[in-house]
Amino acid sequence: MSPEKRPDFLISAEGLRVDGRRPDELRPIELKVGVLKQADGSASIRQGKTYIIAGVYGPRELHPRHLTLNDRAYLRVVYRMATFSVPDRKRPAPSRREKEISMVVANALAPSIFLEEFPKAVIDVFIQVIQADGGTRCAAINAASLALADAGIPMRSLIPAVAVGKADGKLVVDLGDEEDKYGQGDVPMAIIPQTGDLTLLQQDGSFTREELMEAIPMGISACNYIHELQKEALKRAYVRRPEDGEDDEDDDSYDDYEDDLETDLGEADLMEDED
Ligand code: CDP
Repeated sequence: MSPEKRPDFLISAEGLRVDGRRPDELRPIELKVGVLKQADGSASIRQGKTYIIAGVYGPRELHPRHLTLNDRAYLRVVYRMATFSVPDRKRPAPSRREKEISMVVANALAPSIFLEEFPKAVIDVFIQVIQADGGTRCAAINAASLALADAGIPMRSLIPAVAVGKADGKLVVDLGDEEDKYGQGDVPMAIIPQTGDLTLLQQDGSFTREELMEAIPMGISACNYIHELQKEALKRAYVRRPEDGEDDEDDDSYDDYEDDLETDLGEADLMEDED
């Protein structure tokens, strides 16, 4: 592969970014729920060219036992990049960066989960980056939160996340890989949408106070948009919509219910009294 070249500019004379986006424009986001057969809950996200799958198992018995927490479940997050997910082959052994991201993703998700309902158990969240093109920690949170909901884990809210960065001195939302590599820094954040509380706030690079005061509301507004996409993805997975021309009342679920009654009670009990 030829070595990557720094683009001549990150913001054009027209004020657009290398991929043609406006400063406050997110990359196209595609969220899918229930993508893995074996997991209790799962979801995938495509955010631009970044592609990530998250699988949730549990609550279940925790091994090794010495990690047990007596008053709540242990939220164990494992973030990993596939060897083919980046331009240089990623060594399979867990890197310090992967361990750090596993920890910050767990910290970002934990405030939304009723962990106290499952003392001594573990909730496992496995995150696999299939293709990395910037913003993987935030995309991982977006997918993992949906996977937790898909697993039926009791939660206060879904957690959306996004990074705001600086490219050619201008604040931009949801950095692509080139902006991440050649920009002046980024501020990944995650929120609880109902309260606006931040559950993740990191900073890489230098920002003035004024820039940060502008970056945070930009990120919160992008997070609120991502939250709407997360809710739509859940609805697509769980709400059965009548097909065109199909009448709601023709739904045969009521017949299934009657069949169940017959099995439970025996036909005789359903027959009307003959007196
Ligand atoms: O992915 P995120 O922006 O949350 O975290 P980062 O540590 O700031 O990494 C920025 C980007 O660098 C990643 O999204 C990848 O596209 C890229 N990267 C890479 O090319 N090779 C690695 N071993 C790690 C990251």
